[in-house]
Amino acid sequence: MPQIELSGIRKTFKVYERPEGRWGLLKGAFRRTVRLVTALDGVSFAIGEGELVGLIGPNGAGKSTTVKVMSGILTPDGGSCVINGRVPWKSRVAHVSEIGVVFGQRSQLWWDVPVGDSFSLLRDIYDVPQARFEARLSELTGALEIESLLKTPARQLSLGQRMRCELAAALLHSPKLLFLDEPTIGLDAVSKLALRAFLKEENVRSGVTVLLTTHDMDDIEALCSRVMVIGHGKLLYDGALPGLRERYAAYEGQDTDEVIARMYEEMAL
Ligand SMILES: Nc1ncnc2c1ncn2[C@@H]1O[C@H](COP(=O)(O)OP(=O)(O)O)[C@@H](O)[C@H]1O
Ligand SMILES: [Mg+2]
Repeated sequence: MPQIELSGIRKTFKVYERPEGRWGLLKGAFRRTVRLVTALDGVSFAIGEGELVGLIGPNGAGKSTTVKVMSGILTPDGGSCVINGRVPWKSRVAHVSEIGVVFGQRSQLWWDVPVGDSFSLLRDIYDVPQARFEARLSELTGALEIESLLKTPARQLSLGQRMRCELAAALLHSPKLLFLDEPTIGLDAVSKLALRAFLKEENVRSGVTVLLTTHDMDDIEALCSRVMVIGHGKLLYDGALPGLRERYAAYEGQDTDEVIARMYEEMAL
């Protein structure tokens, strides 16, 4: 059985809107219109142990919702999802002990606390034995070059420094799976390269299964042999990167952002 298996996952959000115009606020107190937004419209895929898979798609395609369902943060409206033999939102505690999650736009570090203290708090939360924690911490701080940052509060870190610390935080309890939602967003070129190199090494070294969402085709090129494309909550492509590139061979030589824009256009996203 694959380590991750999603089948026909559906998720709809209710969005409450108030009437427009200057009296909207007042009218809204009496009459709110409800609009349904389909974030995931029957998403199915399977991922095997040790794979490194990229999930791409334009804004609003359903990438973050997919990661949240897989992390047990959101309960879908329909379909099934089994990860490590468990349903994430039904066995949250056991599930969370086996996954690491990084949201590029949200920090899991305590903002005013030195990074090293956040790591110790995570040790307590995940109940990692002290000796194992120390060995893992020194491994990660070495690989991510963050030893000198351990005494710095998270709020004083640059984005690149913070992302390296976020990765360490997500991996301290040696999870079998790592989900990254836009980990390279906003990073400078040097930080992006360092983060990619680390992920690749970590995937080989520890065999951790990685699913990452991104806007950056270069992330996929550098890391993933398999790519999934999502649009309007539907999976539109799932396969090898060369296969995807071949489809768009006509745009060869163009900037990757242009290629990806054309690709989304042709897929009517
Ligand atoms: N909590 C929420 N409430 C209402 N709508 C949401 C919520 N989360 C996501 N959506 C909507 O679901 C769709 C998919 O969102 P998301 O998964 O965040 O896309 P992506 O990460 O690919 O940009 C979008 O239309 C988004 O506006
Ligand atoms: Mg998102």
